[in-house]
Amino acid sequence: MSAPDAAAEVLELAVRLARRAGSLQREHYERRFEIGTKSTPSDLVTAVDHACEALIVEALAAERPGDAVVAEEGRGRDRDGAEWRWVIDPLDGTVNFAHGYPRFCVSIGVERRGEREVAVVYDPLLDELFTATRGAGARLGGRPIRVSGEAELGRALVATGFAYDDDRRAANLGPFCAFARAARGIRRDGSAALDLCYVACGRLDGFWEIALHPWDVAAGLLIVTEAGGRVSDLRGGPAPRSGGQIVASNGRLHAAMLELLRVA
Ligand code: IPD
Ligand code: CA
Ligand code: CA
Repeated sequence: MSAPDAAAEVLELAVRLARRAGSLQREHYERRFEIGTKSTPSDLVTAVDHACEALIVEALAAERPGDAVVAEEGRGRDRDGAEWRWVIDPLDGTVNFAHGYPRFCVSIGVERRGEREVAVVYDPLLDELFTATRGAGARLGGRPIRVSGEAELGRALVATGFAYDDDRRAANLGPFCAFARAARGIRRDGSAALDLCYVACGRLDGFWEIALHPWDVAAGLLIVTEAGGRVSDLRGGPAPRSGGQIVASNGRLHAAMLELLRVA
């Protein structure tokens, strides 16, 4: 199968699975479900996170048994040497979901031989489907999307997020205050995957976070770059596949964001 056909097949499956997991989220939203904690009292996991992950991972095991799968709640199986590697956040925005705050999504990023190749982020409440394939642009629904053209931090709307442990939370307070002063507006809305998609479609001009996981960003980073944006670590180097420190912007604001993060 040619490379574009193989990527189209992976995209079609990722969209189908994201929509199925999104339907589960919609069905259980604002209903009763089991909620547990992981690393800290703020780090939640619900029965719906688990159900979405099981649905996606089981379907992949049946349909693409040779692919590597990394999934946040631990059901995946990473395999050295696999051509395709799926990196899945079954429910990004779990604290929001648990509190009935309507901002969460399914995020599926797929790498081919170590490069980001296909990305899908699905917001089930707004029925918004963000997709990208390397070299073929990013879309919202079927429509191509582009980052904003804003070049002035003082006219920019930016977003960030906070890790679940005290030390890394505290480490982002300096940057948070600096951007709250410098930018037109700042948001902390609880889903890194959607924040990245919002940079891609121009709703946000920039986003940063200092302690992310691979599944938070596997899809969103490709969606930003395919929409014409720039992604990096905090020093302007390549955005790590493992997550960690991430800056994403429309490109024009990138240098100003890096400078503020350097001095904050
Ligand atoms: C979290 C969200 C949040 C970000 C955290 C992530 P989760 O993911 O993306 O916006 O600030 O760093 O861990 O736990 O809801 O999948
Ligand atoms: Ca996440
Ligand atoms: Ca999650």
